[in-house]
Amino acid sequence: MDLNNKVIALTGATGGLGKALAQRLSEKGCRMVLVGRQADQLRAVADKLNAEVRIVCVNDLSSSADIHRLANELRELDIDILINNAGVNTFRCFQELNENDIDDLITLNLLSPMKLTHALLSHLLGRRGMIVNVGSAFGFIGYPGNVAYCGSKFGLRGFSEALYRENYDLGLKVIYAAPRAIDTPMNDARVVGMNKALGNIADAPLAVAESIVSQMEREMHRQVFGFPEKLFAKINGVLPKIVDGALIKKAKAVRFWASRTADFD
Ligand SMILES: NC(=O)c1ccc[n+]([C@@H]2O[C@H](COP(=O)([O-])OP(=O)(O)OC[C@H]3O[C@@H](n4cnc5c(N)ncnc54)[C@H](OP(=O)(O)O)[C@@H]3O)[C@@H](O)[C@H]2O)c1
Repeated sequence: MDLNNKVIALTGATGGLGKALAQRLSEKGCRMVLVGRQADQLRAVADKLNAEVRIVCVNDLSSSADIHRLANELRELDIDILINNAGVNTFRCFQELNENDIDDLITLNLLSPMKLTHALLSHLLGRRGMIVNVGSAFGFIGYPGNVAYCGSKFGLRGFSEALYRENYDLGLKVIYAAPRAIDTPMNDARVVGMNKALGNIADAPLAVAESIVSQMEREMHRQVFGFPEKLFAKINGVLPKIVDGALIKKAKAVRFWASRTADFD
């Protein structure tokens, strides 16, 4: 898809990847609609862009009422592309999460993108537009310490794949982008420590944004970024026992990092 002049709604626009996506997309000539919870931070992101920018403030994308209000505004702004980027993670072993943690994570990462997409679907079909769901390599590979998060990102992948197949012949593009670790505020010192200890690479947000923009231009439905994660995702699809073996060995180290406090020295 030629992105020049497209009107793009981006949730989570004040986050690490959101800011980078806003920058890369505006460099492509897109007209940005930045969606977030903090007006001052949205304005700061907007001020750095050399593009036509609108700001839409929401209280909480986990709220159905807020999602419907947002969908009404985005319809009025006549968007061509929706990027479901807002998300959370809680790096803890599953037994350490409480029920609210699980609710919050599944709601924001999975139910909210589904509801926002549903509310905007007929509009986007009419525009022969695009939906980009920011997933994760953990939407292909079940990883210790990220059990609920994996549930949300695997779910988002299944949703994206089915929606893509249901609407491809109607001209709607649906994309599932699967970055590996990214150097953003989502990952606290424990995650950074674990990634270093296990040799997991964290990519720079601008590099990931560039890969997502390229995936959008090439209309590639699914893509995992980075090696060996890309290979692991493929192997996990056909021979999951091999990946079981590799990750079961890492579980002890993951439990160590997941049980530390976020502000350890
Ligand atoms: N970081 C990684 O390692 C990594 C790897 C693969 C995929 N991803 C995915 O990339 C996407 C962006 O994550 P990030 O790394 O940029 O994280 P981030 O820096 O923590 O940004 C998260 C964004 O989500 C927004 N958000 C959180 N809760 C919200 C809510 N209830 N309602 C509305 N907005 C909410 C935040 O808004 P505020 O600014 O107002 O808090 C922020 O803009 C996520 O979907 C994540 O799962 C991240």
